[in-house]
Amino acid sequence: MINIEVVLSPALLHLNTIRDTNVVVIDILRATSTICTAIHHGANSVKALMSQSETLEWAEKGYLTAAERNGQKIEGFDLGNSPFECMDGKVNGRSIALTTTNGTKCIEAVANDGARNVFSGSFLNLEAMANFLANDKGDVLLLCAGWKDSVNLEDTLFAGALAHELNNRTDCKIDCDAALMSMDIYQMAKVDLISYLKKSSHYKRLSHLHHEEDMVYCLKHSIFETVCGLKDGEMKKF
Ligand code: MLT
Repeated sequence: MINIEVVLSPALLHLNTIRDTNVVVIDILRATSTICTAIHHGANSVKALMSQSETLEWAEKGYLTAAERNGQKIEGFDLGNSPFECMDGKVNGRSIALTTTNGTKCIEAVANDGARNVFSGSFLNLEAMANFLANDKGDVLLLCAGWKDSVNLEDTLFAGALAHELNNRTDCKIDCDAALMSMDIYQMAKVDLISYLKKSSHYKRLSHLHHEEDMVYCLKHSIFETVCGLKDGEMKKF
């Protein structure tokens, strides 16, 4: 039986153990959606980093560099954090060093702490992720990146969606209130996610920055089969 835990903010991660657990890091708008898109479009790997200075250092090793803060691309980097920047062939065959406001910080936080595996979760590969986790049978922790330690709607919705998909595939133990809440919210909102999310803080932030197209794309369900997880410290095709 798979035990499913949902952590709604990195600030709550210390209350859980990730040892021998399949951790899915969730930053739907947009880091983990962009990571999955880059790898689906041929990137060899995505190295998730916390600091801009460390990210830039990887250029000397032939990595494309990508940076976002507060939803905006940072000057001096090859890419920002839009999934659309990964679709024109530029990332094919390349490794990417990426730093974002919340998502990459979360990945770094769980990368070396005894997890069974660490995955990048997105609606884009929802069913493929659920199939992998159901077959692997390891306990699952769904870690929402949120916004600067606050809970956000989009990551909570995805946690509910993945918990729901897992529960439909195999025996799951779901005693965690955060998991039960996220599943209920997803059931309520799934009929029209984009309309539901228009009231969310990050939707408003990204709309102000004219990133509506990114958000419509990041909410598409199961458009590719690629599962992305950490191998040798970098997100790769799993
Ligand atoms: C994040 O790390 O919070 C997001 O990726 C920010 C964004 O891309 O808008």
